[in-house]
Amino acid sequence: MHRRGFLAAGLATVLVGGRAVAQMQMDDMPGMDMGGHAGHDMGAAPQGTVVLPEGEVLRELPLLANEATGPGRFKATLTAGSATARFAEGLDTPILAYNGTSPGPLIEAVEGDRVEITFANRIDNEASTIHWHGMPVPADQDGNPMDPVAAGTDRTYSFDLPEGSAGSYWYHPHPHGKTAEQVYRGLAGVFVVKPKADPIPAAYGDTVLVFTDLRLAADGTLPDNTMTDLMNGRVGDHVLVNGQKNPTLTVPFGAKRRFRLYNATNARFLRLSFDGAAMTIIGTDGGLLEAPVAAGDILLSPAERLELVVSFDKPGAASLATLDYDRGWMGPGRPADAGLTLLTVNVSQTEADPVPPLPDRLRPIAQLGAPAVSRRFVFTETMAMNASGMEMGFLINGAAFDMKRIDVVAKAGQVELWEIVNEADMDHPFHVHGTQFQVIEHERGGNISKPAYRAWKDTVNVARGETVRLLLRQDRPGPRMYHCHILEHEQLGMMGVVDVQA
Ligand code: C2O
Ligand code: CU
Ligand code: CU
Repeated sequence: MHRRGFLAAGLATVLVGGRAVAQMQMDDMPGMDMGGHAGHDMGAAPQGTVVLPEGEVLRELPLLANEATGPGRFKATLTAGSATARFAEGLDTPILAYNGTSPGPLIEAVEGDRVEITFANRIDNEASTIHWHGMPVPADQDGNPMDPVAAGTDRTYSFDLPEGSAGSYWYHPHPHGKTAEQVYRGLAGVFVVKPKADPIPAAYGDTVLVFTDLRLAADGTLPDNTMTDLMNGRVGDHVLVNGQKNPTLTVPFGAKRRFRLYNATNARFLRLSFDGAAMTIIGTDGGLLEAPVAAGDILLSPAERLELVVSFDKPGAASLATLDYDRGWMGPGRPADAGLTLLTVNVSQTEADPVPPLPDRLRPIAQLGAPAVSRRFVFTETMAMNASGMEMGFLINGAAFDMKRIDVVAKAGQVELWEIVNEADMDHPFHVHGTQFQVIEHERGGNISKPAYRAWKDTVNVARGETVRLLLRQDRPGPRMYHCHILEHEQLGMMGVVDVQA
């Protein structure tokens, strides 16, 4: 039996009792394919079939214009719909875009602002929502799958940005069963909340680098998800930065630059290092750290963000490149993780004007107090045989997501200890809506370790066999989702609902 032959033909995502499961039919099982079917592929797309141009100047994301007239307000419209992208010479790629661009326009608002964004869903025949990933917005404004916006209709999301909420957030669709697909087709954008007074010197700039993952067929189209994608999460052939492959940036030598790194891929783990330049971590998902932390390499799992200051201290090329990271892979076709150059910085001979140093203290972060409740969430993967074939399940506490079920009831304003236990064979990046949490410890193989710094986060990788303990407090009532941010796993059931009561 050729292992490559197994399962391509039987790939289907079907609805069973209202939930999506990945199902493969018996005749596609290993060992059943005794002859013929030679052309079937496991589903791992051939690597590098389409060549993308590299070395273009890094583009800045287009800014979403603020249409509000008075101060303290941000008002705009985001229209989701079909668009055409040109990733490779001579190839038109049909994508989904916000206001015609992918990644979507950069939203920049300020702490204290009142935000009003009208979402116009112009996606053909598909409901969608806009979810404000990581942001402290009311539950009914957060684009939950329970609040779909039908194709051809509009709705306005309104929320206030509280003081202290400055951070690197993002937005993406969250409709039931379609999130993974709408995101890989192009719908994701960055939402930066700026503080009123920023401790990071303005001379460092503030550059967003959003990573997406593109798989392009030879005809320029975006192929559908395969069984391999559903199991492992979709990993593409090209990691793009602001929609470009390995773009370039030129800086004078001695310069310091502030970067906000976003992993907006469906499922690619990015372990990164800056070859030829020194990285300092200054912030995470929910804003600045207490103090800068020097870093040799960083891991950004799907949906995570980091803010860095990079010092370009010697002339020549400095490149941001991927390193190996084994996050667990099912079946053949594990993509190459290491050695991808994502961004090339040309550090010129011209010396930069002197810039102020990075302050030693950035802001205080008080540790969340003693938890009133503790909860345990166990992540598992299952494969079960049934009459129609084999079924993959991605479960939390033994259950797959059900929109009509409340999994956990919590009390607004109360600190909780959440223990996320990964008993599965793959890493699962855990995310919860509506708040930022503090990771307090990791446990693996009986060893307990503390994080290197206290930080506000909304997504944390939980490695295979690892338990992560975190403190969190939800301040706004209503239903909130928590899930694995490998979007195919979320689609296949690895999601639950916590109902926060006033
Ligand atoms: Cu990025 Cu449920 O979200
Ligand atoms: Cu979210
Ligand atoms: Cu997962």
